[in-house]
Amino acid sequence: MERRGLINSIIFVLFGIFNIHSQLNIIPSPTNVSVGKNNFSIPNELVVNDLLLPEYSKELLIQFWTKEFGKNLVFASNEGDLIFSKLSNVPRDFYSINIDTKIRINYSSDASCFYALQTLFQVINKKESIIPFLQISDEPNFEWRGMHLDVSRHFYSVQTIKKYLDLMSVYKLNTFHWHLTDDQGWRIEIRKYPLLTSVGARRDSTLIGHASEIPKKFDYKVVKEYYTQKDIRELVEYAAKKYITVVPEIEMPGHASAAIAAYPELGCKGFTSKVESEWGVFDNIFCSKTNTMNFIKDVLAEVCDLFPGKYIHIGGDEVLVNHWERCADCKITMEKNGLKETKELQGYFLSEMDNFLTQRGKNIIGWDEILEGGLSPNAAVMSWRGEAGGVAAAQLEHSVVMSPTSHCYFDHYQSNRSGEPLAIGGYLPLSKVFDFQPIPSSLIHYQRTYVKGGQANLWTEYIKTEEHLDYMIFPRLLAMSEVLWSKNKSTFNEFSDKLLNSHLGFLTGRKVNFSKAFLNSAIEIISENNQSILQVEPFNKESLVQCFDLNKEFVSSQVNGKINYVLPKTKTPQIHEYTVLTLQDGLVIDSAKVVFMSHSTNGDSWIISKKPSTSYAGKGSTTLTDGILGARPWNGKDWLGFQEDTVAFQFNFLKNQKRNHLYINFLQAESSWIYLPERVNFVFTKKNGKSKLI
Ligand code: ACM
Ligand code: ZN
Repeated sequence: MERRGLINSIIFVLFGIFNIHSQLNIIPSPTNVSVGKNNFSIPNELVVNDLLLPEYSKELLIQFWTKEFGKNLVFASNEGDLIFSKLSNVPRDFYSINIDTKIRINYSSDASCFYALQTLFQVINKKESIIPFLQISDEPNFEWRGMHLDVSRHFYSVQTIKKYLDLMSVYKLNTFHWHLTDDQGWRIEIRKYPLLTSVGARRDSTLIGHASEIPKKFDYKVVKEYYTQKDIRELVEYAAKKYITVVPEIEMPGHASAAIAAYPELGCKGFTSKVESEWGVFDNIFCSKTNTMNFIKDVLAEVCDLFPGKYIHIGGDEVLVNHWERCADCKITMEKNGLKETKELQGYFLSEMDNFLTQRGKNIIGWDEILEGGLSPNAAVMSWRGEAGGVAAAQLEHSVVMSPTSHCYFDHYQSNRSGEPLAIGGYLPLSKVFDFQPIPSSLIHYQRTYVKGGQANLWTEYIKTEEHLDYMIFPRLLAMSEVLWSKNKSTFNEFSDKLLNSHLGFLTGRKVNFSKAFLNSAIEIISENNQSILQVEPFNKESLVQCFDLNKEFVSSQVNGKINYVLPKTKTPQIHEYTVLTLQDGLVIDSAKVVFMSHSTNGDSWIISKKPSTSYAGKGSTTLTDGILGARPWNGKDWLGFQEDTVAFQFNFLKNQKRNHLYINFLQAESSWIYLPERVNFVFTKKNGKSKLI
């Protein structure tokens, strides 16, 4: 509770600082904005000319004006204070707003009228009932502006999902990717196969803590939750009124344990499945025999009826295809179709689904593994394992949605401080989401047009509550909105000012438990001139930063708003603990502990025979000597990771340097495919070339 109190005071203080700006705080930034000197005074009763006002925009206008703003509207079919016109011969979803003595909204599509209103609501000064005279013209940068939610690992109510749809629509996101089935629960009612939900939606128990913790602990509580077809129709309709398309995901052929638990005959002969209680990738996948294919097609037929959008997501990720090698039925499918490898069987499996869905006027989309078995003709690719899948698919002239783990996985930590709620791992601060560039630079001009957009993905293994879900989504979703919508993106500083001036207040009003991690002072230990240096940069340059050692002695000084404190280097290893305080107007607004190990080689470099993997490159070779002991929950930055058989590390001692200790830490995190080395050798080599194994 203390932490929450502290953090609330951050918001309070920083609002005080930034509120003096009179800039507009629109997120996502419109393409063009110009602001005049005068203001439009909002009358108590605004006359709206609704002749060309689309129905859902009218609903939105009434909801905002009368409920949130508390003013009255009068509708008229001739002149008015707020006038709508429809444009032709302008880009899709273009709109403009002109405000002087009247408010004029021009739009090209019903959706863009809705977006214009969302922008209008953000520029109203509610306190003073004024809007500055302004001209805005705007259109989206990408057509797929998405958010994904996994409801298998943890289930969220219809009400909760409506809340996210509302917030997505405020920020002009238009695609909700609903991950409805997985190993840990089947969450969509299928009328023809009731066991999918009566058995497949029921989990006996759920893992507690992180998947890499040993021993594993479980809560032994039954979960049985799913969405009825009525719920689904209600949500799809609700989303449609906000110009959000719902893309359902039915995972195949992997991540199918819950379905196979319900109907064991869907799996390969001799294997059974249960609705899984823990996280990971499981061996038992849908069999490729005709009966299973027909079953899935029946499921997809009902899915097509429920979801009017163009795309059906068929998963396709993390399929342990070797499993099929042990199945006589799968061998028959392979022989019948002239397939040599099980990877090709995955291609065959998905092309069957592609044909089926294409006949129903749908397009399949799948995770980038669907490239590996040969891409079926109408498939779109969602690139998650970096950019490579997206690049390959665009080069093959297939549509692509970019959601690389590096910038789009909202299940990663957004702060590297301890005390964050449990997450899968990885580090995705707000600024990194903001830096996301959906179009891979290696694509040439015409190939870029195949990149339809991007999306944030939220896997929910560790997210049990709506409060936690809020925390992982916000404010990162606002950064994603800026990336995907804006053709004229702001700088990160401008973006964070807008958050502070307006949007964090808005989210508070909506009772969203957003993360304030981006307001923390940035604390780093860097290596320079063979020394480790503690650097602290406060979010607001005017804040005062102080660093104390364990004896509460003040050790740092601040220059240009930044601390650069040279950490001690000692002959024998010693642990030091520092407290870093950030103060605003005498009030502590951030407090962090830094643990550092001094030793005789702090900040020195090693020679490493192989390059670390780009995802786990740490800070280069000084990661090994910077004095930070790789910690859990790890955030990738403290560690070096390799995808190699053998790696050699060489350290050159200075003449006559005596060493008594050698510390080295390794990490095992199986759920992230991180494993300990099989063997470690230490070799001491003298200048004359003589070596000794130690
Ligand atoms: C995925 O994250 N397995 C698509
Ligand atoms: Zn099989």
